[in-house]
Amino acid sequence: MPLVSLKEVLDWAEAHNAAVPAFNIDNIDIAQSLMLAAEEEQKPVILAVGQGAIRVGRLDLLASVVKTLAARSALPVVLHLDHGASFEQTVACIRAGFTSVMFDGSSLPLRENIEQTRLVIKAAHAVGVSVEAELGAIPGAEDGIVGNGPAKVSVAEVEAFINGVDVDALAVSIGNAHGLYKSEPKLDFELLRSIRKLKAQVPHLVLHGGSGLQDKVVRSAIQEGVRKINVATEIRLAYLEGLRATMDSRDIYTYISVARSFVMNVAKAKIQLFTAEEN
Ligand code: 13P
Repeated sequence: MPLVSLKEVLDWAEAHNAAVPAFNIDNIDIAQSLMLAAEEEQKPVILAVGQGAIRVGRLDLLASVVKTLAARSALPVVLHLDHGASFEQTVACIRAGFTSVMFDGSSLPLRENIEQTRLVIKAAHAVGVSVEAELGAIPGAEDGIVGNGPAKVSVAEVEAFINGVDVDALAVSIGNAHGLYKSEPKLDFELLRSIRKLKAQVPHLVLHGGSGLQDKVVRSAIQEGVRKINVATEIRLAYLEGLRATMDSRDIYTYISVARSFVMNVAKAKIQLFTAEEN
């Protein structure tokens, strides 16, 4: 079916007390493997194009791949821009058919983040595309972007932001980090609770840095209202492990099928964890 908006799948997640994974895609093999995992689990999925893939010229190419994969499937699929770098980039993505764009203004002063995000929302909402914003830069490196803001967002900052911007999803830093964690992460669920209490309807909350989080931490985050969890590093490492395992093969389809199965296994486990029914 045609791609759906981020808002649509996050509303589904809210109704099911679940989170939808946003997996970064870097090439066709990874995108195909993630779609196969979603098909096996029969769950919605968000396929995200990040700045690394855009830097090597894949914005339009990956957009076409995701549109084709979604058209072949009966599942809700979202084509999402991860860590959008400028208003212009979000518009380029909307034109390429993305159904969701993130504008990452977390390194800007709050006022400027609000103004820029409003501009993105005006363009995106005019054509039914969802918008994710970010507050409190997430530490660690992702696709060459290094978070340099406070490790945790303040409740006052979130309040000022959501009173000024009608955003569909909001990534907040609560002790999470991009890449693999160097020590056991301590997510601040008290902070998440305070954010959720700010308004009757806060934007859907997003957790970046989903790789390497313990299952019980992930389940708690979902119980506390996180509806989208981003996973990039674990997917990339699975793909690379698959390639390494077949390095000596001289048959390209051997390495494609092994790398694909490694990615599928990780993705299926994440989907099961994020959408598990609680007892
Ligand atoms: P990880 O690479 O830590 O999974 O984080 C992914 C992410 O947050 C992409 O925006």
